[in-house]
Amino acid sequence: MGYVELRDINKHFKKFHASKDINISIEKGKLVALLGPSGSGKTTILRMIAGLENPDSGEILIDGKVVNNTPGSERGIGFVFQNYALFRYMNVYDNIAFGLRVKKIPEDKIKARVTELLTLIDCQGLEKRFPSQLSGGQRQRVAFARALAPNPQILLLDEPFAAIDAKVRSELRTWLREMITKLQITSIFVTHDQDEAIEVADEIIVTNQGKVEQAGTPQELYKNPATPFVAQFIGNSVEVKNYEQFKHFDKQSDDSIAYLRPEFVSIFKKGESVQFASSAEEAIVEDTIFRGSNIEVRARIHGNLISAIRSINDAEIKVGEKVDVFIYRLYVVSGNEVILETNSSLKDEEVVI
Ligand SMILES: Nc1ncnc2c1ncn2[C@@H]1O[C@H](COP(=O)(O)OP(=O)(O)O)[C@@H](O)[C@H]1O
Ligand SMILES: [Mg+2]
Repeated sequence: MGYVELRDINKHFKKFHASKDINISIEKGKLVALLGPSGSGKTTILRMIAGLENPDSGEILIDGKVVNNTPGSERGIGFVFQNYALFRYMNVYDNIAFGLRVKKIPEDKIKARVTELLTLIDCQGLEKRFPSQLSGGQRQRVAFARALAPNPQILLLDEPFAAIDAKVRSELRTWLREMITKLQITSIFVTHDQDEAIEVADEIIVTNQGKVEQAGTPQELYKNPATPFVAQFIGNSVEVKNYEQFKHFDKQSDDSIAYLRPEFVSIFKKGESVQFASSAEEAIVEDTIFRGSNIEVRARIHGNLISAIRSINDAEIKVGEKVDVFIYRLYVVSGNEVILETNSSLKDEEVVI
């Protein structure tokens, strides 16, 4: 059994069904991401675990005990809110000490704990500063320390990096992962950013329209999407029409559509690939986008604009150029089923040298 469990949870806001038969199981010490588009019900799930909202039906268990009727303050939970919500008129020290003062812990113990946390978050010497005098990254680390101060067993973080610029956000992700691994605290963080979830989490729970679509490791979700939503949501997928027009792919069923990810595609300059010479097909480049460490090339084929990533070390491809496209595989969605279809020439050694 998981350390945190949600069983058949339903929640309405008036007539709006915000959580639909939610079943979640989270192991002790794991760092789990709740990933889904805005409005898919992530925050609602977090708030129910924290006791800030009550479900209409179903059970929430922590460490094997049903906590539906346990006040949030007694659930052993630390919460880092979406806009880090530090108290603006309190300095760093008082912000971190806040939860301990609520618990009427003696001041000397509070001092020891705040000092320990300031070291942990590498903010020694900043205790007298006010939130407005901190960088975004520092503020977020203080919010993290404040949530950790009362020694919670579970840490909940709602879009913790949303308000922070890209470079610092990336540093903070690594920092958070290291922190949580070190502290071994069961943590659930909400994000709508799949890169963030994939990079940071041990496990991802994908939400969509109030439901859980799939739970698994980032690799599992990536390789074996269980639902059409996950197939198109994870991995910069684009929908392709008439996929049976691509060489070496067969239509699975009349109502099926397909999703393609850039890593399923190679785009070559004419004559560049010997291996796929006979099984590639021609396309015209419509756009090339420099992404810093690589180049995305977009080309039109059978009415679809598809993308592939090329190395900056490869020969340059220009807009309007005729190129060869080879598609390794794609996801075919038919009803509720997702099938990974591989280019049939890859099974045929005559074609692939
Ligand atoms: N207190 C509330 N009253 C009414 N509707 C709410 C309330 N909280 C959330 N909702 C609605 O529930 C849906 C899910 O919200 P939320 O859990 O915040 O989604 P997410 O965090 O994935 O963006 C949204 O459509 C939102 O408008
Ligand atoms: Mg939210």
